[in-house]
Amino acid sequence: MLTRDDFFLRQDIRFLNHGSFGATPRVLLDECRRWQERMEQQPVLMHRELPALMYQARIALADYLGCKAQDVVYVTNSTFGTNVAAHAIGRTLGAGDEILVSDHEYGACIRAWNTHAVSRGAVIVTAHIPMPVPPIDDIVDIIWAGVTERTRVLFLSHITSPTAITLPIAELVRRARQRGIITVIDGSHVPGHIPLHLDELGADIYTGNMHKWMCTPKGSAFLHVRRELQDAIGPIVVSWGPESQSLHHSSFIDEHEYLGTRDPAPFLTVPYAIEWMTSNDWPAVQERARTLVRWCMDELTSIPGITAMHVDRRDEQLQMGAVLLPVGTNVDDLKRKLYDEYAIEVVVHAWRSAPIIRFSVHAHTTQHDLAALVAAVRDSFAP
Ligand SMILES: Cc1ncc(COP(=O)(O)O)c(C=O)c1O
Repeated sequence: MLTRDDFFLRQDIRFLNHGSFGATPRVLLDECRRWQERMEQQPVLMHRELPALMYQARIALADYLGCKAQDVVYVTNSTFGTNVAAHAIGRTLGAGDEILVSDHEYGACIRAWNTHAVSRGAVIVTAHIPMPVPPIDDIVDIIWAGVTERTRVLFLSHITSPTAITLPIAELVRRARQRGIITVIDGSHVPGHIPLHLDELGADIYTGNMHKWMCTPKGSAFLHVRRELQDAIGPIVVSWGPESQSLHHSSFIDEHEYLGTRDPAPFLTVPYAIEWMTSNDWPAVQERARTLVRWCMDELTSIPGITAMHVDRRDEQLQMGAVLLPVGTNVDDLKRKLYDEYAIEVVVHAWRSAPIIRFSVHAHTTQHDLAALVAAVRDSFAP
């Protein structure tokens, strides 16, 4: 069984924020370093070999994500993937065309749409999902109520960052497809966390991080674009494109894969990471984590004034949990106190004025870590 000893994490900190930046185990960083060392032994040779190596890495990734290798490229992170989508689509939108989003989106990605699309006349329409959040199936209608004649794009997180909920993406993608609305899905928290089969899902554009829940080195993410749309999704960074030393499998790959000199090692580490997950019985890792999340949610919500983010507790199916704190909680003070006095690294923030704790559980997390959080929170809200 994987434990904290497999990671570099400091022993003196209870690390309950895997969700923000992940944490990479020793073996995966070793593999990443092997690629870097191989590159430094003969950088020019590595450059020549890179298209074939990246092709192999893309095949392994596509197999894992349930899609074709021609339809997916490695990108540095999902902020980048979202920017590619917003940049390309933003240029095609007319004044008054609408981009429908929820009010649980990641702020940096909304900034990308503002910069690339709203600045050209498009409008963001925001669907309001109340907190605590209603049962997941009800959220379909809440979001869909925001669709109008002018809706051109639906941009949503598959798993939300501020509130740790799963949005009903499959049904929304299905409805959007029928209406000719382009779907752009931010799956930053999805790979390695909840099941994903991109071809079955059928979203037009989907970006996700491997460096969060798959624990790969930072800077390993993907961008998937449905074949029919690929010609319309140009790169945000223009490099050699079809004139690069690629295998010329498609102009989509050519345009998005070679972006000038950068470190390919995090991408090349992904196939090894997928094998590592399999050899460590990933379903068991996930089940253990979800069980701990549910235990911690029960404990935290037994503290007077604290409520679960989900109205229907059966919707708690993630390795992250979020609770709503008493109204008026000073989140900055609480965050400082949890870190300075209890050495707990956890998300404490206000989302749309609601004070929230979001905690994460992965292979390195113990029940003691979570019990320490519960005790510290209980202590902080003691009458
Ligand atoms: C929903 C969501 N989108 C985008 C991001 C950005 O991820 P990255 O920094 O890897 O681009 C995050 C990071 O936490 C996120 O939670």
